[in-house]
Amino acid sequence: MSWWSLLDRSRVAVAPSLLGGDLGRLADEVRDVEAAGADLLHLDVMDGRFVPNITFGPDICAAISRAATRPRDCHLMIAEPERWLERFREAGCDGLTVHLEAVGDPLPLLDAIRALGARAGLSLNPGTPLPPPGPLWEHLDLLLLMSVEPGFCGQSFQPVVLDKLAAARAYREREGLDFALEADGGVGPDVAGDLRRAGADILVAASAVMGQPDRRAAVATLRAAAEAG
Ligand code: DX5
Ligand code: ZN
Repeated sequence: MSWWSLLDRSRVAVAPSLLGGDLGRLADEVRDVEAAGADLLHLDVMDGRFVPNITFGPDICAAISRAATRPRDCHLMIAEPERWLERFREAGCDGLTVHLEAVGDPLPLLDAIRALGARAGLSLNPGTPLPPPGPLWEHLDLLLLMSVEPGFCGQSFQPVVLDKLAAARAYREREGLDFALEADGGVGPDVAGDLRRAGADILVAASAVMGQPDRRAAVATLRAAAEAG
């Protein structure tokens, strides 16, 4: 299932990561960031195994879904994601993204996500090269390219993501594919233009949106910087 049924393809989508907000007031934070102009909500799930941090699981995602009107983009930074796909889907996640580094063969997982009626995403750490040309790409609804090592908000942007975005976009165009390209980690107005120019359709931001006192202004600034790029 394509992300383009939920997003406006003609403009960059801003996906604030709720992890960067006040986790003690999650429902308020959802409403606040939606009012500020979020296009979708990014849910950073960490298990303390795949990454050296633990955040939240399906019950919290379900609570977020109950408060939300915008789509939920669930970034699974967990080992053995195949054990959890159904639970996160039941929690109202519209997209489920697994890490290539966490799985052997991602293809059956991507198909399992689609079979659950969700958008199938694959994420790559900064040091992981793009998958080689081949059938895998046809099973993707989202390619999430990390511009920091997964685990924590507030890290510095790694420009290595720019060439990968450009190469993935070129491949998508050459092959007539339809997946969305998302950049995650250290994303702020300073790099949003470069990311957009390189091919990002969706920008994830914790610090640059959730960490700002005026989130409406922060979303607008990020969007403007991207579109100016
Ligand atoms: C990192 C997460 C990111 C992170 C982004 O592991 O996947 O989504 O929360 O945080 P910032 O925008 O502060 O780099
Ligand atoms: Zn993320």
